[in-house]
Amino acid sequence: MHYIRLLRPAKFDASDRRRPLVSLLVTVTTDLGDSFLYTNEPVDLVVSADDAVGTSILSHESEGQPYRWTAGMRVLDIKVPVKSHLKKGDVTCTINIQQVTRPKSFGALRSDFVLPWGIRKGSTAVDGLIMPVSVHLVAGVCEPVSVRPLQLNTGYLPSDQLNVELEEDIGESIARHIWDAGVVTACFLAGACKIEYIRNALPISKDTFNVLELGSGVGILGITLARIIERAAAIQGKTLSEATILLTDLEEAEERARSNIARTEATLSCDDGDGSVVTLQYENLDWDEGKHGRFGPLVSARPWDLVILSDCTYNVDSLPALIGTLSALHTSNLNHMDAEKDAKTSVMLATKPRHSSEQALFGLLDADGWRYSVLRSIPLPKLGEEGEVVDIYSLEKGAP
Ligand SMILES: C[S@@+](CC[C@H](N)C(=O)[O-])C[C@H]1O[C@@H](n2cnc3c(N)ncnc32)[C@H](O)[C@@H]1O
Repeated sequence: MHYIRLLRPAKFDASDRRRPLVSLLVTVTTDLGDSFLYTNEPVDLVVSADDAVGTSILSHESEGQPYRWTAGMRVLDIKVPVKSHLKKGDVTCTINIQQVTRPKSFGALRSDFVLPWGIRKGSTAVDGLIMPVSVHLVAGVCEPVSVRPLQLNTGYLPSDQLNVELEEDIGESIARHIWDAGVVTACFLAGACKIEYIRNALPISKDTFNVLELGSGVGILGITLARIIERAAAIQGKTLSEATILLTDLEEAEERARSNIARTEATLSCDDGDGSVVTLQYENLDWDEGKHGRFGPLVSARPWDLVILSDCTYNVDSLPALIGTLSALHTSNLNHMDAEKDAKTSVMLATKPRHSSEQALFGLLDADGWRYSVLRSIPLPKLGEEGEVVDIYSLEKGAP
């Protein structure tokens, strides 16, 4: 998948009063930022800029105007003319940049289009996706974060569409933007609700469900789970009385993860109109501490029905600490469940293999007594390059 990314905050420029502009310096790159979109055919991007009530502030000439990305580009400087009378203080709007697609999409990446079985013939998604991006301008000043708008399709009715917005840093960072395995797994879980495959992907057998996420980054996977978990339980004939989803990562991820939790909390209460049974939390957890069983108060507070992680296994050097943390979490789980028969720890691990060295993961899992199987292998076409795949594994460890 490719991502439209802003290289610096959007700028409002009224130096020519008759022709004020919004200036957007963007790139189209991979999650790792290691290559730029390179296709035989040019790819057209389109920009919208709507005020709080959804009225466009673009000038007539720039409505629907395509901005062309061609092979070899590393950056595209987009100047978008806005209505001529606008002054800086008037410009409070959401700017969205997306690929011109077939069928036409409206600003958000639809989860259906990420899954090969959800893509219709003739759709631009067949060849690979480009993730749209949004930014907000308040009185002509761009907020310091960009937003990834995602539409999760959990069923066939309009009420089954859940909109998730995830803040990312503008520019480069590892922990503070979203990654392919997180996007694909989030879309897979949403889509699994649609076809009831969720029974296999996310079995829920009680009226409480607690999920711990490792290396959550900005929180795409845990936050998606928070949005869909009550539906996933209902499909399985369960009504949740309580669910906790705890995101964890290094300190550098904390600010963005907490902002995204705050954004999500408002939507959680709206989903069922009656206050939510889902609690979303964040706590720092460095695997170099976790492998010794040194956890913060939130991680230690309860047993975890499921541990989830996406795109956390590409760095072979950190694999021993990561697997050590999983095993220490299992020990903590067993301590919480001491009287329970069949006590076990279940993990959902998603990875987009990038290098053969990552296979070291399986040796480490074997050595620590984890059983594993592929839950789903999901092809991910990539524009202009060989396709990739996201493998979702199910891991399990029982009592010794
Ligand atoms: C490639 S990002 C994936 C982020 C997110 N899971 C996603 O799919 O969008 C890897 C994440 O692992 C985290 N990470 C790396 N080393 C870590 C460590 N030693 N302890 C905790 N988290 C770590 C990074 O901070 C980063 O957020």
